[in-house]
Amino acid sequence: MKKITIAIDGYSSCGKSTMAKDLAKEIGYIYIDSGAMYRAVTLYCLEHGLINGDTIDTETLKSDLPDLSITFKLNPETGRPLTYLNGQLVEDKIRTLAVSSKVSLVAALDFVRTAMVSLQQQMGKEKGIVMDGRDIGTTVFPDAELKIFVTASPEIRAQRRYDELQAKGETGSYEEILQNVKERDLIDTTRKVSPLCKADDALVLDNSHMTISQQKQWLAERFKEVVGE
Ligand code: DC
Repeated sequence: MKKITIAIDGYSSCGKSTMAKDLAKEIGYIYIDSGAMYRAVTLYCLEHGLINGDTIDTETLKSDLPDLSITFKLNPETGRPLTYLNGQLVEDKIRTLAVSSKVSLVAALDFVRTAMVSLQQQMGKEKGIVMDGRDIGTTVFPDAELKIFVTASPEIRAQRRYDELQAKGETGSYEEILQNVKERDLIDTTRKVSPLCKADDALVLDNSHMTISQQKQWLAERFKEVVGE
C-alpha cells in the first residue's frame, strides 16, 4: 500500500500527540512529535543559562544550534518514542512546567524554526510518517495527503495537562496551567514566523467532548478514506 504523509496540527495540550502516536503505531508509520524538538532546544537553553526571564541569548544559541543533536528512539516496552538531546534521554525533563513556560519564546525564533523544519523535512522524506505540531500542514509538509487541525477549549486542555502533571507527581495549580495554556496560544498564533493556523485543506477536529477512543476512531476513518481502504 502506498505510504502517505499525515500532518496533525493544533493548540497545545489538545491530545494531538496521543492520537498521532496511536495512529502511527497501528498503521506502522514513524511518529515524530515536533513539539518535543522545540522543547529539547528550550531545555538546552535553560541548562546552559541562555534564558534570563523573557530574554534569550540568541547569539550563543545560534552558534550552538548546529551542534545540537535531537533524536528519537522507540521505547521497546511501550512502542512510543523517547526524545534524546545530545545522546541523553530527556523525555521527562522536556515535559516540565519550567520548559513549557519558555518553549514558545524559543519556538518563535526564526533561526530555530528554520533548523527544526529542515530536520523534520529530512525525517519525513520517505513518507510513512505521522508528525504533529503547529506548522506541519502549512510549512513542513504542505503537500501532506492527510491534514488534521485539532482544537479544544483552553479550560479542557488545562485540565488535561493538570491531570497529566499530577499523575507524574509534579506540582502546579490549575490556574497557573490555564494561564500557561492561554499565553502559549497567544504566542503560537501571533508569532511572525509560521504562526499556528489551519491549513486550507486541513480537516478540523474539536475534541472538547470526545474520549480518546472516539478520537482514535475518527482519525482511523479519515486515514482509510485517504488511502482508499
Ligand atoms: O506540542 P507541544 O506543546 O509539546 O509544543 C511545545 C511548543 O513548541 C509550543 O509552545 C509550540 C511549539 N511548537 C511549534 O512552534 N511548532 C511545532 N511544529 C511544534 C511545536
